[in-house]
Amino acid sequence: MFQLLSHLTHLEVTSPDVEASVAFYVDGFGLRVVDRDADGSVYLRCWGDYYPYSVIVSPGDGPSVKNMAWRTSSPEALDEAAARIEASGITGRWSEGRQGHGRSYQFVGPYGHPMELFWDIERYRASDENASIFPDRPERRSSHAAAPRFLDHVTVAAADVRGFCEWYNRVLDFRIMAYTTLDDAPITVFGVLTTNEKSHDLGVVLDSSSIPGRVNHIAFWTDSDTELVRTADVLMENGVEIEYGPSIHGIGEQTYLYFREPSRLRVELNSGGYRNYVPDWTPNDWTPATGSNSIYRNSAMPMSMTESFPHDPGHPTATEEGVLPGTEEALLNPYAVQGRG
Ligand SMILES: [Fe+2]
Repeated sequence: MFQLLSHLTHLEVTSPDVEASVAFYVDGFGLRVVDRDADGSVYLRCWGDYYPYSVIVSPGDGPSVKNMAWRTSSPEALDEAAARIEASGITGRWSEGRQGHGRSYQFVGPYGHPMELFWDIERYRASDENASIFPDRPERRSSHAAAPRFLDHVTVAAADVRGFCEWYNRVLDFRIMAYTTLDDAPITVFGVLTTNEKSHDLGVVLDSSSIPGRVNHIAFWTDSDTELVRTADVLMENGVEIEYGPSIHGIGEQTYLYFREPSRLRVELNSGGYRNYVPDWTPNDWTPATGSNSIYRNSAMPMSMTESFPHDPGHPTATEEGVLPGTEEALLNPYAVQGRG
């Protein structure tokens, strides 16, 4: 099978308080700062990321995802992907190299999501006190109790879940892996896509707002369910409220945990799950009652989970201050306060 894209490599997120968000990612979650830009952007990596960074936190009015970057499977696949996007009616633009990687093609997807495709990037190999004793590891395992291994996926919001999935399937060969439709109405509220053997590296939730290009959450990976549960424990001990989980999704069968970083962007941690190599997989329709969110079918997803970013002022779970009921900022995240100091 000729694949255009190989995997998600990095995300650029925005925060109204970059230093507070970075303080959380570093002190609260175990990522490491590897670079800073003159424009105020901070580059972060997980200990197992194969390239120099996986998250860029940039200044912005509020939480959002400014860029989602994917590595193609070859230099030729980059040209082919760009040609397919242009043939679909979307015009992107080429850059000769930015943010430490090579030539890239940037475009805005049909539902307003900024994406970037590239091939050339250096493999990361720590040469300092972070060097690993093991040849395959880009750096030594973090000693931080909550540290994820690497970036896992991004879940966006779009006004038409099936339309979104079908475009990325048709134009860029993402496989559509599953849908969730409401139990009592024929409305598709969730879909997952993948470029590789994971159940998804791109998710999409139904967006009832009129704001294009929104994101619902970004997600990292940890090696075991035990580590994920320990991360939940460590976050709680440090005053971070757990929004949903730990539990196991029916779709993908990953163990999950959701919380917020100081910008209020939702962050997920995943572990486990199945691998799926079937080239002609056809997506099944799940419903919440069959366990799409919670495989045990014994808990409903909290309403706050439907909040996507940038904020929709009309969203029922957001107050005028942008704070969800019962999730006051200080309670949500002490690093937000510490980071401003
Ligand atoms: Fe997710």
